[in-house]
Amino acid sequence: MTDPKLKIYESVDKVVEALAGEFASFASKKEKAGEKIFLALSGGSTPQALFKTLAEKYASRINWRNIHFFWADERCVPPGDPESNYRSANELLLSRVGVPDKNIHRMRGEDSPEEEALRYESVILSIVPLKYNIPRFDWIWLGMGDDGHTASIFPDQLALMYSDRICQTAIHPVTKQKRITLTGKTLNHARRVSFLVTGPAKTEISRIVLKETELRQKYPAAHVRPSEGEVDWYMDEAATGAL
Ligand code: 6PG
Repeated sequence: MTDPKLKIYESVDKVVEALAGEFASFASKKEKAGEKIFLALSGGSTPQALFKTLAEKYASRINWRNIHFFWADERCVPPGDPESNYRSANELLLSRVGVPDKNIHRMRGEDSPEEEALRYESVILSIVPLKYNIPRFDWIWLGMGDDGHTASIFPDQLALMYSDRICQTAIHPVTKQKRITLTGKTLNHARRVSFLVTGPAKTEISRIVLKETELRQKYPAAHVRPSEGEVDWYMDEAATGAL
């Protein structure tokens, strides 16, 4: 289990340009090797800058038809809802770069959460390559809330990091909004996980999760350490002020 690699840039723009560029070279390598990419996205506001940069600068520089898109989590709302993580990614990226519908595997936030978690598990198992019978994503892009949650694994539901399931339901502790989330079993089986954490609101939680060995144990983001993969943190200086 390797320690997180920190990749710190002066601004959000530089952060997303770095990750976008790295993804483009990864995509080119996989295409040359004749291999598909299995990628899981997160929601929230941070990744929106990344989606925009990929759509604006890499529409013709990445073979988007070679990539299968999944989600690390989804709010239990219809796909057209402003809260939908799928809607955000589709509007800002997927619809702009010609990802075939058959490569877009959204969590159906409009359906019964428990049934959808089971359905989504079977979708992942049938498409994502397995290792030790566990789906192994090539890359998972995560964010972190200022409460240390990641995907939709919140501090009061830390057990989801150690579930036997691949995908489960969750509940936002404040809004009580129902969620569907990949579990730690899936997150920590990925070849690579990248956190995208920017802005002053994440300074203190980033310091705790990255530096406080004991204190960080209660925050789900601190438990994302792929057993046979790598984890890196793409951050701007505003979020790393306290490191
Ligand atoms: C979600 C995300 C969630 C997000 C964090 C950070 O559905 O909200 O998947 O895990 O990454 O809440 O959100 P911001 O990027 O908006 O700070």
